[in-house]
Amino acid sequence: MQPSKDWIKDLVIYQIYPRSFCDSNGDGIGDLPGILSKLDHLSDLGVNALWLSPVYRSPNDDNGYDISGYQEIMEEFGTMEDWDRLRNACRERGIKIIMDMVVNHSSDEHPWFIESRSSRDNPKSEYYIWRDPVDGHEPNNWASCFGGSAWEFVPERGQYYFHYFSKKQPDLNWACPELREEIFSMMDWWVQKGVEGFRVDAISYLDKPQDFPDSKLPPRPDGYSFPDYLSGRPGTHAYIREMNRRVYAPGNVMTVGEVSAPTVEELGNYVRTEREEFDMAIPFVPPIDEINSWSPEKLRNDAWESYILMPKDGWWARFLSNHDKPRQVSLYGDDGEYWEASAKLLAMFIHTLPGTPFIYQGEEIGMTNVSFPSIEDYDDLSTRDNYNQYILSGMDPRRALSLVRLESRDNARTPMQWDSSENAGFTAGRPWLKVNPNYTKINVEAQKQDPRSVYSCYKKLITMRGKSAALSRGDLRFLDAGCPELIGLARSFEGEGLLVFLNFSKESHTIPAGLLESAGDVLMSSYDREDGYRGPELRPYEAVIFKIKA
Ligand code: NOJ
Ligand code: CA
Repeated sequence: MQPSKDWIKDLVIYQIYPRSFCDSNGDGIGDLPGILSKLDHLSDLGVNALWLSPVYRSPNDDNGYDISGYQEIMEEFGTMEDWDRLRNACRERGIKIIMDMVVNHSSDEHPWFIESRSSRDNPKSEYYIWRDPVDGHEPNNWASCFGGSAWEFVPERGQYYFHYFSKKQPDLNWACPELREEIFSMMDWWVQKGVEGFRVDAISYLDKPQDFPDSKLPPRPDGYSFPDYLSGRPGTHAYIREMNRRVYAPGNVMTVGEVSAPTVEELGNYVRTEREEFDMAIPFVPPIDEINSWSPEKLRNDAWESYILMPKDGWWARFLSNHDKPRQVSLYGDDGEYWEASAKLLAMFIHTLPGTPFIYQGEEIGMTNVSFPSIEDYDDLSTRDNYNQYILSGMDPRRALSLVRLESRDNARTPMQWDSSENAGFTAGRPWLKVNPNYTKINVEAQKQDPRSVYSCYKKLITMRGKSAALSRGDLRFLDAGCPELIGLARSFEGEGLLVFLNFSKESHTIPAGLLESAGDVLMSSYDREDGYRGPELRPYEAVIFKIKA
């Protein structure tokens, strides 16, 4: 880690999904003035960085991840003056702004694409990836992530363009030097405007195999196959390093790449310091794979493997939630009987690992998955595609809906639950996506007044981290607690240390006596609502943090 970047170790990052955070003008859509009106919430919580999901001009095929104007603000969200006001207000509060930057693709409504598609010899012709038909068909068998072929035909050019995501998200052609130049100067423009970090979207796919070979993976129900050679190509790493040299390093900005990295070694390729790529990485795992494969043991092993990969020469993004995942308490905890204890346990896990904790809006009050009655209630294009693929594979619609309920990205996108008034205080109008009906029970207002709420637990953890070098800088050791569902870990730095035990299950588990020998005062418990920590037998989802005795 370069010494100049030591400050990233003290960040606690709060992610806002602007469409769902706070609506200021009653049109049912969250906006920048809405965010501005809620900055007290971020300050009160104690976070010092804000990751803003895209707020650029966009036709919203994928809620802003399809940008039609990189240096403009989406009309529904407000104006550039609103953004400037937000930046100033964040600065006053010591909150850094991290912009979500989507440069693997743009919107098909971006002026570059409109020009590029108009003919084969216009100045922007090479800004996107165009290929001739093969035998009158798409150039290869690749599937788009959001359904159907990854190729779309344009009669004006008599060619197909490549889109790994929806057909309204054509991939930019990183092999074109002029395009790269446009992107770097646009990012630098944001740095000059005061942006202090970037979360860079879908970054593993920049370089494409120019011959676009057919994928050998089995086809999806719609007949197309996911590409087998797209992520993490050497050319992609070269582009990222160029971006670092041109934008990140001169601007001294913090960067986190959203990556597709099937192995921990591949993850390391984006973040080990010597690579000069990103400060941290957010690995993307399709929700359904995560639902089917996660276990407490896997969470522990993944955390350990990423730790030993770079104990001294890299840094970690720690998160369980974002706008692409189901709600963490529903996925890894229990959103029924043990809702509160398990929401606290998950927070205690993330905030005691080495790395920068990320909090996704609503996580700090334990927001849960939603269960909409009909597929029509879901807005997300990937949810609709998943549903279609299930139906195409012959699945019963009720079963398809029940799977979609578990994995849908809309679980994370229902409006923020501010209070128990109509529409959870999110809007005075009709929300763009229905509010989770549990808002009368789970909301910010109720939890702020309650010293034992999930919200108060997050506040305490953030304060604790701010004061503890063991948490922000310390070594990690996992302890063998004799049972895969009981995670034990220790953090230490120059004589200061913490011991953490987390029971990830509905059964009770006892901390082995030997592991408690150095346990001093109890600093926190996920059972503070009850009687706090009361002995080595941890109750369902009980978690405890001890100070290590001097
Ligand atoms: C990853 C983003 O997080 C997701 O929301 C988006 O749909 C894709 N990239 C495409 O931009
Ligand atoms: Ca609005």
